[in-house]
Amino acid sequence: MTQPAARTTLRSLAEQDTHELGGRMSVLSRQKSDHVRLEQLLVELAACPPEQQRRVLLALYRLVFPHAFAEESVLWPVLRRLLPDGEALTLRVEQEHQEVNELVTRLETLALQDGEREPLLHRLAEVLREDVRDEEDELLPRLQEQLKPGDLRRLGLLWEVVRRVSPTRPHPVVARRPPGNVVAALPLTIIDRIRDLVERAALGGRPSVTRRMTALDHHLGRAAHAVELLPIMRTGEHRSTSRAGDPWSAAMPVSFLPR
Ligand SMILES: [Fe+2]
Ligand SMILES: [Fe+2]
Repeated sequence: MTQPAARTTLRSLAEQDTHELGGRMSVLSRQKSDHVRLEQLLVELAACPPEQQRRVLLALYRLVFPHAFAEESVLWPVLRRLLPDGEALTLRVEQEHQEVNELVTRLETLALQDGEREPLLHRLAEVLREDVRDEEDELLPRLQEQLKPGDLRRLGLLWEVVRRVSPTRPHPVVARRPPGNVVAALPLTIIDRIRDLVERAALGGRPSVTRRMTALDHHLGRAAHAVELLPIMRTGEHRSTSRAGDPWSAAMPVSFLPR
């Protein structure tokens, strides 16, 4: 009986140069450069005193949430279609993404002096690094095995476009999979990005402006919550990442304004 051909050993994205990854426009190069930036922010965060962590955390959230949202809506469905074990592989990273959404939601309710903050920050860094390793060492090399460089560049463009119009905040109640997350993307992106502008205005304004912008941010948070709770936003969800019906579904979307 003939044996099935053994798969060539996968090479991590970390060991490959831009040319091997399919060029600068390839989805693999784009992923790797975001992951490098994420590692820089994690190192910076670990070196910061608590009073200075907010600036680094905001930069980290704005990198991580659109990046992961675009993976969930564009890349992982492709892997599930191409690989016989795509379901199990992608579920693992979706669970990591779900944990990041929950950790940030919890973290942003805590005061700076709260003793729960430090272990949460530690776990956040840990799970983000696990996610990068899973993607660079396994999922993305498996994608590379299946696609030609031209396909990797086309997928890179699609991922980049979706990333630029994805939500910028944690949404632990929304599905980590299509169609729920794709349906949720448009309203939540609009609300999240308006909140980013409102919060920036609140931080830089006179006290009266800050008060008005803070109130507006609160209303927008309620609107985002109403959107999150629509049942259609959970369609396609795997039960292991579902938070419908537990206390998460009662939690309001976080505000990034200082408490
Ligand atoms: Fe990634
Ligand atoms: Fe990821």
